[in-house]
Amino acid sequence: MAQTFNVLRLSGDGVGPEVVAEACAVLEAAGAKADVTFEFSDGLIGGSAIDAHGKPLSDEDLQQAKDADAIFLGAVGGPKWDHLPKETRPEAGLLGLRKELGLFANLRPVKVFDALASASPLKDDIVRGADLMVVRELTGGLYFGQPSKRTQDETGRSAVDTLPYHESEIERIVELAFKLARQRRNKVTSVDKANVLNSSGLWREIATEVAAKYDDVEFEHALVDSCAMSLISRPTSFDVMVMENLFGDILSDEAAVLAGSLGMLPSASLNGKPPTRPGTEAPLFGMYEPVHGSAPDIAGQGKANPVGAILSASMMLRFSFGLRELSDVIDRAVGDTLDAGIRTGDIALAGTPPVSTVELGAAIRERI
Ligand code: IPM
Ligand code: MG
Repeated sequence: MAQTFNVLRLSGDGVGPEVVAEACAVLEAAGAKADVTFEFSDGLIGGSAIDAHGKPLSDEDLQQAKDADAIFLGAVGGPKWDHLPKETRPEAGLLGLRKELGLFANLRPVKVFDALASASPLKDDIVRGADLMVVRELTGGLYFGQPSKRTQDETGRSAVDTLPYHESEIERIVELAFKLARQRRNKVTSVDKANVLNSSGLWREIATEVAAKYDDVEFEHALVDSCAMSLISRPTSFDVMVMENLFGDILSDEAAVLAGSLGMLPSASLNGKPPTRPGTEAPLFGMYEPVHGSAPDIAGQGKANPVGAILSASMMLRFSFGLRELSDVIDRAVGDTLDAGIRTGDIALAGTPPVSTVELGAAIRERI
């Protein structure tokens, strides 16, 4: 049966447009195999939206995002907009989108492709076989807690941020982590700082309660500081790791080192609701983006690694459109291309010239 999906493209800043173009071309190539078509529309986010509308996300683009079947995002930010106040910076557009769309669950899978085990600065035998998923709470905690402000009085300058969680916010993200674990290797690690923070004490309590409902899934708690160490000393011992917003921001960048390059990592941000459109088997509404950010130092040079974006497109097929097999086809094509030694500069083999963003995208498409 022919299917069509409406995807809002928010290419954003820096290398965003370059990698989004490759991901969309791969989607079209994969779709052609299965009578699936994608209708892309384009909106602005981040610095490019500030330049056009004076703010990092316009009301029209937010509405388009709400109406789409899924959102595909490139990256936001760059030195041109760094001087702006926090509320009007490019990052505020991304945070606003996450909050407005209720995208509370951020999935960041980190899989070490065999061909890249030696591309990591960590020892090959430590990273080989690592395959984990950071599940980051995305709409609560330190990123959104109030008060969050700076003040000044006669004694000097002060600042405060707040880390609030309601049990319902913890419960829904931990539940999702357990459901994911059942589709993977049946293990959940809940990460917190329960020896110091009240918010973590509650997190641990709720995680324990949820775990009791999933006695077929292996479960452990880990303190975030020692977990940061275990993540690079014994990464293969983890499957699904679930945590607070800021902990997830930090540990997911750390985990990227395992995969050889931040350019390799995809992500999905889901709101846990079935899609509004009837007739699709799609499990969850979501926004998909590579983890790497706008990389202004290499923007426009054709050097960016498109794999993170392409794997994000694959996640979109899997989680929002219910097209698991097609998602597998893309993942396999990426693996085959890397095995063939075709790589951008960030993961290139010593002595082998790197290919460009467009060349890597084309090589992956050829293998679909
Ligand atoms: C990420 C990024 C964002 C975050 C920035 C760009 C606001 O670092 O998605 O990890 O901190 O969440
Ligand atoms: Mg980050």
